[in-house]
Amino acid sequence: MENFILRMPAKMIFGPGEVAKVGEEASVYGNKVMLVTGKNSVRKTGLLDRVTKFLTDSRLEYVHFDRIEPNPRATTVDEAGKIAREENCELVLGVGGGSAMDASKAIAAVAHSGYPIWEHVYNDDRDRIRPIEDALPIILVPTLAATSSESNRGGVITNRETNEKVPFFAEPLFPKVSIIDPELTLTVGRETTIDGAMDIISHVIESYLTGPDNTPLQDRFTEGVIRTVIENLEKVLDNPGDIEARTNLSWCSTIALLGPVNLGRPGPFPLHSVEHVISGHYDISHGKGLAIMFPALMRLTYKDRLEKYASLAKNIFFVETGKMSLDEAGLEFIERFEAWMKKVGMFARLSEVGINAESFETMASDTIRVYGFGKDHIAGYKPLYKQDLMRMFELAK
Ligand code: NZQ
Ligand code: ZN
Repeated sequence: MENFILRMPAKMIFGPGEVAKVGEEASVYGNKVMLVTGKNSVRKTGLLDRVTKFLTDSRLEYVHFDRIEPNPRATTVDEAGKIAREENCELVLGVGGGSAMDASKAIAAVAHSGYPIWEHVYNDDRDRIRPIEDALPIILVPTLAATSSESNRGGVITNRETNEKVPFFAEPLFPKVSIIDPELTLTVGRETTIDGAMDIISHVIESYLTGPDNTPLQDRFTEGVIRTVIENLEKVLDNPGDIEARTNLSWCSTIALLGPVNLGRPGPFPLHSVEHVISGHYDISHGKGLAIMFPALMRLTYKDRLEKYASLAKNIFFVETGKMSLDEAGLEFIERFEAWMKKVGMFARLSEVGINAESFETMASDTIRVYGFGKDHIAGYKPLYKQDLMRMFELAK
């Protein structure tokens, strides 16, 4: 295991009904709140009325920015950051999925710095990144079980002029408070619930497959999260009102990028790099892009980590791997995982979202340009070169 420092949000409040504490928690950080949401769901579900009442009950003023789109754009964030500055908002409250939460972090940063968010994000020349030195205090209320944005200090922003989608990270972006109320996820539709489940699994499985070997506890955590997502996603799809199953998905989502699962087991996230390029170009949902590319990545690279794949077969699908070769056990996991994806409606192909072979070359080059940081490959367990990425797109077409 590698040495690590564990940093987390200052406070996390978890459980059905806990959103009622949002006014009380926000009032600790100021009197004027920049409330950040997506365009539709908070109104449709009635959550907006509840949250604004909690704020006014705590005698807080608020400015509502309600134009965050899925895969939030740099221009939208800059506009909202300007409003937060002009209105002298003292904190940012993000209510929504990963898009609203990531945008809230970005808005908190630009409201403080006054620079466009694009100057703060990762780019192909690390020297050009303007560090985020401080930010307005951030409070997050996730309404989807998916990204784990509520647990970490990063976000992902899209530039529609260049079709680049890239992350930003900074210590001041850890939420002061995250309130994870699984009841808020009861209204999430079937497809978005499935996309979220894939995202949770990918957050724990990427470094399981690309990180070092000597991390048994992190590996058992990973297998536990995946097994819990599998069991509870099926329950939610059978009965969308199953609050216990929704609560388990929310906890898996929150813990995935909180620290204990991946810390000490650093490893690149090649699936995320490829997916961010896909959704940067085609504006599809993050979870859908991951689901499309994950089987292809597994088939391309499983021979590099046969022990890990065999362990997944045994611990996720309870396969009796004792009499199998490692190769057979590894393939068994891939086949069972794909069969499960098909069963729950998660399995998909690039062609189903309108992406065809003509784009593969551009997407492969962009993945290396944006996520290779000056090298001719992106990092995986072994480096992934342009021809490997082309092969992955072929497998997923
Ligand atoms: O936009 P609104 O109107 O709010 O509707 C959303 C959106 O259409 C809807 N929705 C949200 N909560 C709902 C709901 N519908 C019904 N009931 C509710 N309770 O769901 C749709 C998707 O929302 P979005 O926020 O876009 O989804 P998600 O949570 O998957 O976030 C995706 C974004 O997060 C980034 C992704 O790249 C993407 O930009 N990620 C952020 C990460 C992080 N900060 O750590 C890590 C992830 O790997 C990921 O990259
Ligand atoms: Zn993700």
